[in-house]
Amino acid sequence: MKKIVIASDHAGFSLKEEVKKHLNEKGVEFEDLGTNSKDSVDYPVFASKLCKKIQSGEYETGILICGTGIGMSMAANKHKGIRAACVSDTFSARATRMHNNANVLCFGERVVGAGLAFELVDAFLFTDYEGGRHQRITPCVAWGNTYRFVQEYTIVF
Ligand code: RB5
Repeated sequence: MKKIVIASDHAGFSLKEEVKKHLNEKGVEFEDLGTNSKDSVDYPVFASKLCKKIQSGEYETGILICGTGIGMSMAANKHKGIRAACVSDTFSARATRMHNNANVLCFGERVVGAGLAFELVDAFLFTDYEGGRHQRITPCVAWGNTYRFVQEYTIVF
């Protein structure tokens, strides 16, 4: 397992600390980009910090935690090459790796408890992309590649 990167806003800070303990127990190395307290911060700033680390190639996989996971995933998905999935069930955490090759896992401290969060993390980190039939489509769901998809399939939206 390669080293991963993790970040949260204030609303995800406590769960991030729990997830870090879990990663240590699993022997998964990580870099924590903050935030480092429950003081209010803007979640897009932390989403952006983490996505830039993946875009640079320093990391392949990241975890973002906010109150719901939704804001983090919205912000993360504006970054080219990022496929962020906001999930709160293990089926989706596994499926988004297998089918979407998601590279950022998002969830919310106000939505999932620590026990479920650990299961989401494990499902996400220890599931491989299936490739195959998904390989044609997966690049097209990342920001920056959508236009090519529209051109090729003349989809109007
Ligand atoms: C912070 O209050 C909250 O809005 C944020 O953590 C997140 O849930 C946004 O989607």
